[in-house]
Amino acid sequence: MAEPHRTLFHLAGRVAFVTGAASGIGRAIALELGRCGAQVACADINAAGAVDTVAQLGDLGATGLAAPVDVTDYAAVQQALAFVRQRLGPVSILVNAAGWDVPERFVDSQPATWQRLIAINLMGVIHTTHVALPAMLDAGYGRIVNIASDAGRVGSSGEAVYSAAKGGVIAFTKTIARETARRGITVNCVCPGPTETPLLARFTEMNPKLVDALRRAIPMGRLGQPADVAPAVAFLVSDGAGYITGQTLSISGGLVMS
Ligand SMILES: NC(=O)c1ccc[n+]([C@@H]2O[C@H](COP(=O)([O-])OP(=O)(O)OC[C@H]3O[C@@H](n4cnc5c(N)ncnc54)[C@H](O)[C@@H]3O)[C@@H](O)[C@H]2O)c1
Repeated sequence: MAEPHRTLFHLAGRVAFVTGAASGIGRAIALELGRCGAQVACADINAAGAVDTVAQLGDLGATGLAAPVDVTDYAAVQQALAFVRQRLGPVSILVNAAGWDVPERFVDSQPATWQRLIAINLMGVIHTTHVALPAMLDAGYGRIVNIASDAGRVGSSGEAVYSAAKGGVIAFTKTIARETARRGITVNCVCPGPTETPLLARFTEMNPKLVDALRRAIPMGRLGQPADVAPAVAFLVSDGAGYITGQTLSISGGLVMS
């Protein structure tokens, strides 16, 4: 049994649906929410990875279940949320961390890649939000955090369509925040800076000098870790963050300041 975790945020009694929970940032968020007392549905296209995260939740003394889902498929998202509601109860916390990217100059990229980038990074968020929101509106309570990217705010070479999708996520977040602000629901974005995950490894494997260049550019002098991102998400989904909505928070060691 792990050491009892000290946390400022109390999520006992809440059910969280975390997409991308099989890996990287989504997994760290799932574990952090579990430490705070939430029951966590680990939603991911990678079913085996989601099961691993659930096992790690168990090691922490937290409760979770794997909810295999392809977020690009609206019907599958409906099924996954219905399954979680049936097993754990109504979902009051939604965290959209599923994402995908491939480094490529825009002129060299192809429509099939653009469609996949938009389907996962933007439509995935739209799908889960549309399915989860009615129950939050009925309950008069909800917390949504979308993991966007500073690429969606300041652009990023080699990530044109990904940046467009993340910019779309930020705009979508603000609009849903406005539409739900009087209904007990908050909707915010978190923008990780370069964070050591399998997604970033696709970039650094293609360009090994990138890691040093990023370290030099980041004021804190190091890349982010998934665990750097998770506590901010736990805060934003907590009761105490109830007067914060429509915001975009960079977690980047100072790389992007706003
Ligand atoms: N790592 C970074 O430097 C960085 C920076 C900014 C933003 N982000 C964002 O953070 C989020 C998490 O990324 P990460 O770096 O942890 O990457 P990751 O590759 O480690 O994790 C992404 C997860 O999303 C899942 N996923 C992909 N397509 C899916 C689909 N169709 N349906 C359901 N799940 C799907 C993958 O299986 C994986 O478990 C993403 O939204 C990413 O865009 C990452």
